[in-house]
Amino acid sequence: MSVITLNEFIIERQSDFPYAKGELTRLLSHISIAAKIVNREVNKAGLVDILGESGVSNIQGEVQKKLDVYANDQFLMALKSSAECCGVASEENEDIVAFEGEIARNGKYVVAMDPLDGSSNIDTNVSIGTIFAIYRRISPVGHLATRADFLQEGAKQVAAGYIIYGSSTMMVYTTGRGVNGFTLDPSIGEFCLSHKNIESPTSGTIYSINEGNYIKFPTGVKNYLKYCQEKDEPTNRPYTSRYIGSLVADFHRNLLKGGIFIYPITEQNPTGKLRLLYECNPMAFIIEQAGGKASDGYETRILDIHPDSLHQRVPLFIGSWNMVENAERFVAENGNT
Ligand code: AHG
Ligand code: MN
Ligand code: MN
Repeated sequence: MSVITLNEFIIERQSDFPYAKGELTRLLSHISIAAKIVNREVNKAGLVDILGESGVSNIQGEVQKKLDVYANDQFLMALKSSAECCGVASEENEDIVAFEGEIARNGKYVVAMDPLDGSSNIDTNVSIGTIFAIYRRISPVGHLATRADFLQEGAKQVAAGYIIYGSSTMMVYTTGRGVNGFTLDPSIGEFCLSHKNIESPTSGTIYSINEGNYIKFPTGVKNYLKYCQEKDEPTNRPYTSRYIGSLVADFHRNLLKGGIFIYPITEQNPTGKLRLLYECNPMAFIIEQAGGKASDGYETRILDIHPDSLHQRVPLFIGSWNMVENAERFVAENGNT
C-alpha cells in the first residue's frame, strides 16, 4: 500500500499554485509541524498540569485556557521561523503580530488564525481544532506587516485549512484547487492523505446550531428550525440535530456527511459570534472549494465581506449548498427580525 504524506502531496501540487513555488510549501509544512506539537499537548492534556484557565483574558474578554496560550505560542513560533510569513493575526492577540527579523520581514504572506478553536471543550476530551487563513501581503516586502495586510476580503485567501484534534487528528486544507484531508499516523508522526478531493454533499440531513439561544434567534431562523424538525419523507425530514460547540468539529462532520451549521445574530451577539478573519473566512473558502456555500444568512457571500477590524464578528450560515440556500430563503422572508 502506498502512502502519500502531506509534504509529498504539497510538493506534488506546487504547480497548481500561481506564485513562487516553494513558498507556500514551506508555510504549510511549518503549520503542520506546529500542529503536531499542539496535538501532542492536546493528547496529554489530562496528564499534565496544562488543563484549566491561565488566569488572563484575551481581547474579547474571554478567559484564555492554558492550551489556547500554548497553541498560540507554537503557531507564532512556527510561522516566524518559516521565512515566508511576515505577520500573524490571532484570536489571542489584540493587535497583529508583525515579525521583526529581516528574514521574516521579507516574507510575502500573512496568516490569520484561531490557534485553539472550541476551547470550552478542552477539559472534557471533546474535539477541538486550529483554523488558519493565508493571504499575500499587500504592504511592501522588507517592511513590517500592517493591519491592511489582514483586512482583505476572504476571496483573496491563497490557502486556508484547519486541524481537528479528535478521535484522530486531521489536517484539511485548500489552495483553491479542491480540498484534501490528511490523517496523522501517530506511529510515524506524519499526516497521510486519507480524504482525497473532499466534496460537500449538495444536501444533507444534519443541522447544527446552539438551540439554547432559540428565543433570541431572528424569526427567519426560528422558522427554518421548525422546517428542519417537520416530518416530510421526500425531503428526509425531520433532520438530525448535532452540535458540538467546536466550529472545527461541527464543520468537519457536516462537510463529510452533508449538513448546515448556523451561528446567527442573537440578542447577546447582535452581529453574530464567530470571527470573520480566522473562523468564517477560512471555513467559507474550504466549503466553496468543496462545492458548498457560506453566507451571512442575508444573501451576502462570506468571502465578499470587506473586513473593518481584526476581530470582527459576522453571522455564519455554512454547509451543503441546497441547505444554506434554503435557510437563506427563510431568513429573507422575515427580514432582519
Ligand atoms: P473559541 O473556542 O475559539 O473561542 O471558539 C468557540 C466558537 C466556535 O468554536 C463554536 O462554534 C462556538 O464558539 C460555540 O459557541 P456557543 O457556545 O455560543 O454555541
Ligand atoms: Mn474559535
Ligand atoms: Mn480560539
